[in-house]
Amino acid sequence: MPTDSVVLQAASVHKSYRSGDGRLEVLRGVDLRVREGEAVAIVGESGSGKTTLLHLLGALDLPTDGTIRVGGEELAGLSSDALAGLRNRRIGFVFQFHHLLREFSALENVMMPMLIAGAEPAEAEARARELLDAVGLSARLDHGPTELSGGEQQRVAVARALANRPVVLLADEPSGNLDRETSARLHDLLFRVQSDRGLAIVLVTHDLSLAARADRVLTLVHGQLRAASIEGVAEGARVVVHAGTGQGDPSGVQWESGSIRDSGGLPGIGEPSVEEAEP
Ligand SMILES: Nc1ncnc2c1ncn2[C@@H]1O[C@H](COP(=O)(O)OP(=O)(O)OP(=O)(O)O)[C@@H](O)[C@H]1O
Ligand SMILES: [Mg+2]
Repeated sequence: MPTDSVVLQAASVHKSYRSGDGRLEVLRGVDLRVREGEAVAIVGESGSGKTTLLHLLGALDLPTDGTIRVGGEELAGLSSDALAGLRNRRIGFVFQFHHLLREFSALENVMMPMLIAGAEPAEAEARARELLDAVGLSARLDHGPTELSGGEQQRVAVARALANRPVVLLADEPSGNLDRETSARLHDLLFRVQSDRGLAIVLVTHDLSLAARADRVLTLVHGQLRAASIEGVAEGARVVVHAGTGQGDPSGVQWESGSIRDSGGLPGIGEPSVEEAEP
């Protein structure tokens, strides 16, 4: 269950990239507060800036303007070593393409962040075994990434992300390249971890059935986060965007400014597209 303690906070975050002669403004004042143990899903059109935002939240990149705090610590004030330490200890990442180290076994991949953090090898190994057991992979410890299925690789990535007991898990399309059954199992695993370990999760996804399982759904529209909800199921699922930011903004859920519909294809897997509705 979410508590009142805020573990991740973004305030007025802007991010722009150089683009030809001008600048591409991707994020234009993002506000976000994620509480301990809370699962937040972020949905939005392709190119709306979801991955950009996740990278900023995870200290993989710095905003053009605005502040980000992880566990109360403001990122802008930290040296690159301190940022690397914070990424290693407080943040867990699960990317769409897991980025496991190919030369190392599943066990070694999970041990790696703990060794980097200075854990004793024996201690790191014991915890890595425990985590891989928790994701159902105790029979695959010695397999390298190329000797694992896609779903198994993603489970190793989840175990690795949890290695140093992060305060927040950031997941970008964690099941984007998996079949439906395997991705359903991975989603169960993520939500089990959230409730068992009181972990905050920020989940970027095009899968509306996954987003619907989060405590809160937000959508990125025109570079800002808006509160949203998922209505309908499977092929009929759509994102309804609400007024306000969803960060305790009293204007909250008052009108429907537009919706993002699943554009078809497999349920919950198509690229959602924004539909501007008449107010
Ligand atoms: N390093 C970069 N330099 C310039 N433009 C970039 C850079 N990274 C991303 N962009 C642009 O910023 C926009 C947002 O990209 P981002 O990857 O955050 O989108 P997204 O919402 O994650 O999309 P998708 O759902 O397709 O993964 C895109 O238009 C992209 O082309
Ligand atoms: Mg992306």
